[in-house]
Amino acid sequence: MALRTLASKKTLSLALGGGARPLAAAAAARGVATTVSLPDLPYDFGALEPAISGEIMRLHHQKHHATYVANYNKALEQLDAAVSKGDASAVVQLQGAIKFNGGGHVNHSIFWKNLKPISEGGGEPPHGKLGWAIDEHFGSFEALVKKMNAEGAALQGSGWVWLALDKEAKKLSVETTPNQDPLVTKGASFVPLLGIDVWEHAYYLQVISFCWN
Ligand SMILES: [Fe+2]
Repeated sequence: MALRTLASKKTLSLALGGGARPLAAAAAARGVATTVSLPDLPYDFGALEPAISGEIMRLHHQKHHATYVANYNKALEQLDAAVSKGDASAVVQLQGAIKFNGGGHVNHSIFWKNLKPISEGGGEPPHGKLGWAIDEHFGSFEALVKKMNAEGAALQGSGWVWLALDKEAKKLSVETTPNQDPLVTKGASFVPLLGIDVWEHAYYLQVISFCWN
């Protein structure tokens, strides 16, 4: 699985239960542009089967990502109110929710674009300059996969494993972030090329299915 396709776009803003639009309207009414929206998947929910089931993709996108979006927008609303009142304690208290939910939105928005159905060319190792760069920095594509699997397995709790480009050092690296911390928390020079979601919510239905069978 890799990269993106524009095939069969789904309109999923309804998954938010309309919650984002009132928040956006309220923010706009005060002249504050704050809210984000759940992005469409660039493929059908079942397009990645059998690697990832359509059921888990639907839940992951419409329940989990949608919740990060809703909670991030809610936190921004509260931040706006706290700033308006000059409530410094509330502003500081909200930083955790903004980081967690904003990070969840940022990370998942990258994650969906990293995936691509086999029918659209997904599942192929990277070619061209990226393929050469991977060979140069990790020895081989297989060595990179092994390293990312090991880093993910070693991650305590939930988090993300990243194939990153360090713009300043001009090199590729494998990084991990805890919880929903986005890659930028490791340094402003890091650009995410591939993000692997190590949260159980990304695969738990298939684990249950495999165990059952
Ligand atoms: Fe996730």
